[in-house]
Amino acid sequence: MTFVIATANMKGGVGKTTLTVNLATCLAKNHGKKVLIVDLDTQISATLSLMTPADFAKIRNEKRTLRQLIKRSILSDPQLTTTVSEAVRSYVCNVKGLDLLPGDIDLYDEYLVSEMLHRKAIQQGQVNFETIWNGFEKTLIQSILQPIAKNYDLIILDCAPGYNLITRSALLASNFYLIPAKPEPLSLIGIQLLERRISKLKETHKEDTPSAPNLLGIAFSLSGNVFSSRYYGQVMRRLNEDFSEAKLFKTRIPPDVNVSRAVDSFTPVVLSNPGTAGSKAFVSLAEEFLQKLATAARIDQPPSKFALASLDD
Ligand SMILES: Nc1ncnc2c1ncn2[C@@H]1O[C@H](COP(=O)(O)OP(=O)(O)OP(=O)(O)O)[C@@H](O)[C@H]1O
Ligand SMILES: [Mg+2]
Repeated sequence: MTFVIATANMKGGVGKTTLTVNLATCLAKNHGKKVLIVDLDTQISATLSLMTPADFAKIRNEKRTLRQLIKRSILSDPQLTTTVSEAVRSYVCNVKGLDLLPGDIDLYDEYLVSEMLHRKAIQQGQVNFETIWNGFEKTLIQSILQPIAKNYDLIILDCAPGYNLITRSALLASNFYLIPAKPEPLSLIGIQLLERRISKLKETHKEDTPSAPNLLGIAFSLSGNVFSSRYYGQVMRRLNEDFSEAKLFKTRIPPDVNVSRAVDSFTPVVLSNPGTAGSKAFVSLAEEFLQKLATAARIDQPPSKFALASLDD
């Protein structure tokens, strides 16, 4: 009974990871949801927001990161025995219901992917490389999550900036995507580019994923003295023209030095400093998120990636 949500934006440094870890923490801690964060970025920011570098080095030595799971999907090597359950860390930051599938500084080797796809094409007697590629893109992240998906109410996929293979595969495994953004002109371009690419992705895969992923909403993290910026009003007006009100989160995450400082303690700010403006905003963002999800699930009726749950109860 699971919703999968990707947090994505072509643009870097817009607050994707900060939003992912704080939102997930609030959903587990304040709403009793069983939440899995999946770190899909080789910068491993989500992982290092939730565990120390020393702990990360240890699990990496033990081969308990996403890298091994991706590698297993690429190479049919019996020596690669790590299962997704073995890689998942539970009770992250001592929060009941908060789990993490740690990322890695190295996720896949382009050469190995090409080799594998080429081998498959020969095995299947298929010369249509594009079909093989699309199949791999479609199933990579979904097949990794499949064995454990039923254990969660929500799986949140923290995507890297840009639009790489893993991001596309994450989007195809998701029911919804959430766009963290800054209300700046360049951010607007990032949103438009992402929207265009996702609709193309959906078109390519329309046979097996007719409508999903759907946009859940755009959530803004503000920076500096944004309200006095002459761009702020223009950008917001433009977004209001392009997107319905329901798709824009009302909660805005304010600039708050405690949010960035929290990374030093490897704990989300909602845990390390719950009284601050940033933390309070994440708390209300989580409430709005659940409302939007309940509404979107009714309206969009996304096809089941795994088995879909109702969040009304
Ligand atoms: N509300 C906030 N107040 C202050 N600093 C913030 C806030 N939100 C995020 N930051 C800081 O801004 C920086 C970028 O945030 P974050 O890493 O979440 O962005 P991102 O979009 O995930 O970046 P990337 O594209 O590199 O993955 C980080 O140093 C983070 O601590
Ligand atoms: Mg990030």
